[in-house]
Amino acid sequence: MSSFNLRIACVMVGLPARGKTYISQKVCRYLTWLGIKTKVFNVGNYRRKLHGASLPHTFFDPHNPIGEQHRKEAAAAALEDMLGWFDNEQGIVAIYDATNSTYQRRKWLHEELTKQDILVLFIESICQDESLILNNIKDVKLSSPDYVNMDPDAAAVDFRARIDHYQELYQTITEEDFTYIKLINVGSQVIINMIQGYLESRIIYYLMNLHIAPRKIYFSRHGESMYNVHGKIGGDSELSPRGKLYGTKLPGLIRENLGDQSLTVWTSTMKRTIQTGELLPYPKLTWKALDELDAGVCDGMTYEEIEEKFPEDFANRDEDKFNYRYRGGESYRDVVLRLEPVIMALERHENILIIGHQAILRCIYAYFMNYNHEDLPYIKIPLHTVIELTPKAYGCEEKRFKVDIEAVDTHRPKPAKIVHPTPSINTSVSGNGEKLSLKLPAGASGEIVKDALSPILPISPKLHPRGVAIK
Ligand code: ATP
Ligand code: F6P
Repeated sequence: MSSFNLRIACVMVGLPARGKTYISQKVCRYLTWLGIKTKVFNVGNYRRKLHGASLPHTFFDPHNPIGEQHRKEAAAAALEDMLGWFDNEQGIVAIYDATNSTYQRRKWLHEELTKQDILVLFIESICQDESLILNNIKDVKLSSPDYVNMDPDAAAVDFRARIDHYQELYQTITEEDFTYIKLINVGSQVIINMIQGYLESRIIYYLMNLHIAPRKIYFSRHGESMYNVHGKIGGDSELSPRGKLYGTKLPGLIRENLGDQSLTVWTSTMKRTIQTGELLPYPKLTWKALDELDAGVCDGMTYEEIEEKFPEDFANRDEDKFNYRYRGGESYRDVVLRLEPVIMALERHENILIIGHQAILRCIYAYFMNYNHEDLPYIKIPLHTVIELTPKAYGCEEKRFKVDIEAVDTHRPKPAKIVHPTPSINTSVSGNGEKLSLKLPAGASGEIVKDALSPILPISPKLHPRGVAIK
């Protein structure tokens, strides 16, 4: 069992084309970004593997006993793999993505999971908006592996018939003693029941922030700063002349792509991001949480100076850049935690432009583009480049617009050579494995602070429904 004494299975519920896979993927991406080991188990994939794709709608007819048997087999195979994953890979949250549209199916899942001491959170999506369902069918179902090489109109007719078969037996969730959330018409109404514990509440809060209105998310670093020109990190310096010029080009570029749609601009509290956005004719908000990663005692130095003054720190950072915390400053891991409210707000909003910093934009970009923690600190976010993300059904489409104004390159690639960091000192460890102290004596090295497997979001141990911790 996981050392956090907490395992949650999110079990999706709903008719076909109600966004269950979409929700599963989003929750998985969010929790993984927060360092919580999460995996989706899609029963449709097991069904295709066991019984083949391209099955006609009659396979899903509840009066077809062979289809019924095959569907049960797929559900059981997915459940078996999920239980194995919890036990063998110390998973924390599994998402069981299937229709689970009858009391009987949910009862079976609930029994099998609770037997293994796994908390069950049912997530039901209900949608009565016919045009949205039609759109979902066109958007994702016609291109699914179930309908390869099939005429789109015939595929749409078949998929509607599949929905009708499920509709025949569908029972919305009303089980009073089950933990569940019901999202009705993309969260315009939400019903929750028996939610326990911090992590479940975070998942619920995240789900309540999701919307599917089409929109664009733009990222730009500030224009080149004087510190960038001198190769220094951190600080709160002015823009360079080229950086100021970039600020004058930004409004035209955004307008060209967005037309007269509305937009909100978010900046950090630092001069270089505020100055870059000055000419943009949109409402603006400054966020302290968007300030650049704090380099602590290394703030204002060049990488060469850091290597010379603090060679051990430098080597430690190269060894594990995500978890390395600057003395008196932050790690990328710390930054992800402080950006969590920004991600929630981003999910709620429509068109947004974030004018940010290299490390900050790497963290936010990694959330949308599903980068792992090891690669995250090396993502290329060049100066004088606007990145446009368009959320799609199961991910984001990306475009990059390079503005033709030269700027220095601040990307420092991962060194190819193997570095041997000096073991960190000051290793007092708290109950959850986190090193406690940052007060290092002069000359001591900065630290790789956390066990890479422990979650970034502090998740509480499992709670009894009445709130008593279970030992
Ligand atoms: P199936 O049971 O066939 O696997 P599904 O319920 O998993 O279907 P998805 O594949 O997730 O459906 O459908 C994706 C589409 O659903 C996307 O176009 C997305 O915009 C839309 N969508 C996302 N959330 C919701 C929601 N809460 N209600 C309705 N549609 C949604
Ligand atoms: O060099 C620009 C900068 O934004 C610095 O202020 C910051 O410390 C650095 O990038 C973050 O990038 P890295 O984590 O690669 O050092």
